[in-house]
Amino acid sequence: MSTSSLGVGVVGAGWMGHLHARAYSRLPHHVTDLPRRPRLVAVADTAAAAAADAAARYGFERTYTDWRDLVNDPDVEAVSVAAPNSLHREIGVAVAEAGKHLRIEKPVGLCSDDTRAVADAVDRAQVSATVGFNYRAVPTVARARRLLGEGALGRITHARFRLLTDFAAHPDGVLSWRFTREHGGTGVLNDLAVHGVGLVRFLVGDLRAVVADADRFIRRRPLATAGAGQYQRGGDRAPIDEVENHDYVALLGRTLDGDEDDGLDECAEAAATTRPVNAISAARP
Ligand SMILES: NC(=O)c1ccc[n+]([C@@H]2O[C@H](COP(=O)([O-])OP(=O)(O)OC[C@H]3O[C@@H](n4cnc5c(N)ncnc54)[C@H](O)[C@@H]3O)[C@@H](O)[C@H]2O)c1
Repeated sequence: MSTSSLGVGVVGAGWMGHLHARAYSRLPHHVTDLPRRPRLVAVADTAAAAAADAAARYGFERTYTDWRDLVNDPDVEAVSVAAPNSLHREIGVAVAEAGKHLRIEKPVGLCSDDTRAVADAVDRAQVSATVGFNYRAVPTVARARRLLGEGALGRITHARFRLLTDFAAHPDGVLSWRFTREHGGTGVLNDLAVHGVGLVRFLVGDLRAVVADADRFIRRRPLATAGAGQYQRGGDRAPIDEVENHDYVALLGRTLDGDEDDGLDECAEAAATTRPVNAISAARP
């Protein structure tokens, strides 16, 4: 291993796996004084063709169909986990226990127990770990955090986040892992609202109370074929099944700074955060 490189592995060669691979590839274009340059060592995906495609595009040196082989690869020093949510806990813990650095996608599992298990493994192993809260690096957000930290904006009494995306907008979009409780969890809360919660915590503070409303606007979808990508469409004759989680959620929350004695009415009046979020806004034909 060259001392000027950092061996990187990516688990999951889907939407985010591609994005992570591109980000590692482009890093030296933007940051010229990197102490170590990412070297794309391996990509793992249960769909061998997806791994091979990613290797061909980004130049990974090898591919695996079992993520354990990637984690055990001695040339891999840091791992990006971009697999479905239900795998985050097992893979995240294994990466840390192998003494490797971790870049893991939100929501880090299906529930807070999963997230805590990964965080504990990271602490025990003393490796570094980051989560895919990608909006934190947006220049306006970074500047807002700086101004807030300096006290230049005074006391923040209300923050509003609205996240709209189209990846679940088409009713013929297939029933991928995302729309199942077993692999996707709660749905848009895991998928998108976590970015709003992440921004509240990054900019304003921890939440101590929330009320929420959620719904499923698209309740049935065509079944996915193996390795179905995010934008695959089912045909007219495709078998159909139930969407198990939400594609809309609105949350009203109060941060720790709020008045502990307030009742719910006052809480709504002095809301610290409101985050209407949905995953079905149409932005593509
Ligand atoms: N930070 C963000 O803005 C953002 C955006 C989208 C998705 N995500 C997160 O990224 C993760 C992946 O989402 P995606 O949209 O890329 O999904 P995707 O369905 O496009 O890709 C997932 C890939 O994982 C592969 N996979 C499934 N089981 C596997 C296993 N056992 N081992 C290895 N690979 C396996 C699938 O074949 C697929 O190629 C999710 O946790 C999601 O929440 C984050």
